[in-house]
Amino acid sequence: MLYIGIDLGTSAVKLLLMDEEGHIKNEISREYPLEFPRPGWSQQNPEDWKNAVLGGIPDLLASFDKSQVAGIGAGGQMHGLVVLDENDRVIRPAILWNDGRTAREVDYLNEEIGRETLSARTANIAFAGFTAPKILWMRKHEPENFARIRKIMLPKDYINYILTGVHCTDYSDASGMLLLDVEHKCWSREMLDLCGITQDQMPRLFESYEAVGTLRPEIAAQLGLPESVVVCAGAGDNAAAAVGTGTVGEGACNISLGTSGTLFISSEHFGVDPHNALHAFAHADGHYHLMGCMLSAASCNKWWMDEILGDRDYAGAQAPITDEMLGRNHVYFLPYLMGERSPINDTNARGAFLGMTMDTTRTDFTQAVLEGVAFAIRDSFEVARSLGLEIRHSMICGGGAKSPLWKKIIANVLNVELHTPASEQGPGMGGAMLAMVACGAYPSVQAVCDRLVQVADTVRPDPAIAARYEERYRQFSKIYPALKALYPQLL
Ligand code: XUL
Repeated sequence: MLYIGIDLGTSAVKLLLMDEEGHIKNEISREYPLEFPRPGWSQQNPEDWKNAVLGGIPDLLASFDKSQVAGIGAGGQMHGLVVLDENDRVIRPAILWNDGRTAREVDYLNEEIGRETLSARTANIAFAGFTAPKILWMRKHEPENFARIRKIMLPKDYINYILTGVHCTDYSDASGMLLLDVEHKCWSREMLDLCGITQDQMPRLFESYEAVGTLRPEIAAQLGLPESVVVCAGAGDNAAAAVGTGTVGEGACNISLGTSGTLFISSEHFGVDPHNALHAFAHADGHYHLMGCMLSAASCNKWWMDEILGDRDYAGAQAPITDEMLGRNHVYFLPYLMGERSPINDTNARGAFLGMTMDTTRTDFTQAVLEGVAFAIRDSFEVARSLGLEIRHSMICGGGAKSPLWKKIIANVLNVELHTPASEQGPGMGGAMLAMVACGAYPSVQAVCDRLVQVADTVRPDPAIAARYEERYRQFSKIYPALKALYPQLL
């Protein structure tokens, strides 16, 4: 049988078609616009997601026997606020995970309600990208829209709703709303009350690998698929990517270098970072994970290459950077182009280059961008270490993982072995794998990972380079604290 994996990303949706043995039969991608209506704001139209998915699936399946499709599973960008009215129509553009408009609401939640209270209720504190602060923002700034809300959901849940007619979400994605009691896997009544919403307005909760329904007849007809196709609840993109890289069970680690950058540590037990710098979320395998999320990762390099240099030859720009140059760059880059989440939680933070001299080259800047992202991942890595988590190796996936140089830099900055999976599909592959479990092709998420995930290559740290980076990281760590007080004055 065949399975469709949906990776509902920030710049595009990627669709893949896979069989039970993990062979990728086809993949396509459809881009959609991202609006930045004001500095730090980030929105997208859920109708664009819908059109991209419904338009893309027939193309994905064009030369395949559609009757062989058994299941669909999605991994989606997390935290985005999607609001539907009483006719299930989208009320306003979705406010996305990297939107920073909620600084006031975050302060109110963390300072007035209090971090301890939030953490006791949800296992997390407020971050600007999380969903609850966005609901508070909407209640204050768009009371007419707020009054029309009948259902609240997350981006991939809107797609699942379109496919099945079921208002659903899964525990991994729901964890990032600041409305879920993550430990007990139920909505927090106190948090719903605080946001002025009721349980009726929330979607039904599922495990990621559970079936939420089958295709609506009209959607099945439109896509040319059997009505019996099962749609599973799917997962937040990071949990789905973790499944796609086999990062399940106790103590496994995945680094995702997408638009955002994440450090994802799976665990069979519920646990909270006492400082809440790392998110404590449910995992798509039925257990839990800790995660650090930086808001701009591969997007920093994209910004640098596309917008600043106007050069699409990423590999060419990185070619002059030799091993000898690693850990010797005098230029530093702070990658806070959208503010930053983990671990500094500062919406006012901004990007910065530092340390240039008259002999600084364009290549030094390119290298600094790659290194700045690696150092920022190390910041979350240090938090994990402070919790006693010893990570010696990690999977790595996402667009940035296509760069061998970037992987080498990260392996040496973190001083860990990095394994690249044979299929780098991350969330899309994870989505398809979750659908396989929902359809009974595998008994558990662990089982499908054991069978389908293979390591294609491993990058090992070089002791000399890692030692040089250790020193550079010490210097990098001093830059943000020195600039922190200045950032609010620059707004
Ligand atoms: C995770 C997060 C991002 C988005 C990107 O907390 O906000 O990784 O999920 O799509």
